[in-house]
Amino acid sequence: MNKIIVLMGVPGAGKGTQARLLQERNKLPQISTGDIFRELAKEETALAEEVRAVQATGKLISDDLVIRVVHERTNRADCKDGYILDGFPRTTGQAAMLEKLAVEQGKKIVAIFIDVPFVELEKRTTGRRICPVCGEIYNIYSKPPKSDTVCDLHPEAKLTHRADDTVEKIKVRLATYEQETRPLLDYYEASHRLHRIDGTRDPEVIYAQIEKIVMSTE
Ligand code: AP5
Ligand code: MG
Repeated sequence: MNKIIVLMGVPGAGKGTQARLLQERNKLPQISTGDIFRELAKEETALAEEVRAVQATGKLISDDLVIRVVHERTNRADCKDGYILDGFPRTTGQAAMLEKLAVEQGKKIVAIFIDVPFVELEKRTTGRRICPVCGEIYNIYSKPPKSDTVCDLHPEAKLTHRADDTVEKIKVRLATYEQETRPLLDYYEASHRLHRIDGTRDPEVIYAQIEKIVMSTE
C-alpha cells in the first residue's frame, strides 16, 4: 500500500482512535502531530515552552515548525509503504506542503472526514482519558477503563486528562478548526479525494468503513 491516509475531523471526532486501530491492524505508522508536540512540550527547552503555550490556548502551532516535523517524520524508513496522518494538514499551507510531499514520495493521498456533530464533542473531549504508557484512548462515558483511573493493560500508570480538554479550550479549538481547517474539506472534495464517514457510530463500524475506503482506492 503506498498511500497517505489523512484522517480529518473536529477535535474529539475520533481521529486518534481510528489511527490507532489502523496502525495496529495494518502495520502502518500513525503520525499524530498533536501527540508529537505534546511529547516535545515535556522537554525543558525554549521551543518546548513555546509549544506548550500554543497548545494550551487551543490555537495552531506555526506552519513552518509543523511542516518541518512532518517532513522529517514521514521520511523515516517505517513510512516507505504508507502512513496515517492524524491532525495534519490543518491549514492550506500544510495541505500544499503535503501535495508536494506525496509527489516526492510517490504516494497517493486518501482523505477521510470523520463527521461528528458539535453536540457530541463535549463528552468526547472532557470525558477522554489517556494511558501515559501505551497511549490507549478511553472515555469515561463511552469507553470507560475497567478501573476508574488506570489503563486496563497498565494498572501501574494513572490515566491522564489533556490540559486542552476543558470546555473553554474546546470552544477555541473548534473556532480554530472552523476558520483554518474546515476549508480543507472543500479542497479535497474538489479533487475527488474526500470520503465522509458518520463518526457517531461505533468505532468498529467506523473502522470497517475506513478500511473499505482505503482498500478500494487505487
Ligand atoms: P490534536 O491532538 O490533533 O487534537 P484535536 O485535533 O483537537 O483532536 P483530538 O485529539 O482532541 O481528537 P481526536 O479526533 O483524535 O479524537 P479521539 O480519537 O481522541 O491537536 C492538539 C493541539 O496540537 C492543537 O490544538 C494544536 O495546538 C496542535 N497541533 C496539532 N496538529 C497541528 C497542526 N497540524 N498544525 C498546527 N498545530 C497543530 O477521541 C476523542 C474521545 O472520543 C475519546 O475519549 C474516545 O474514546 C471517544 N471516541 C472516539 N470515537 C468514538 C466513537 N465512535 N463513539 C464514541 N466515542 C468515541
Ligand atoms: Mg487525537
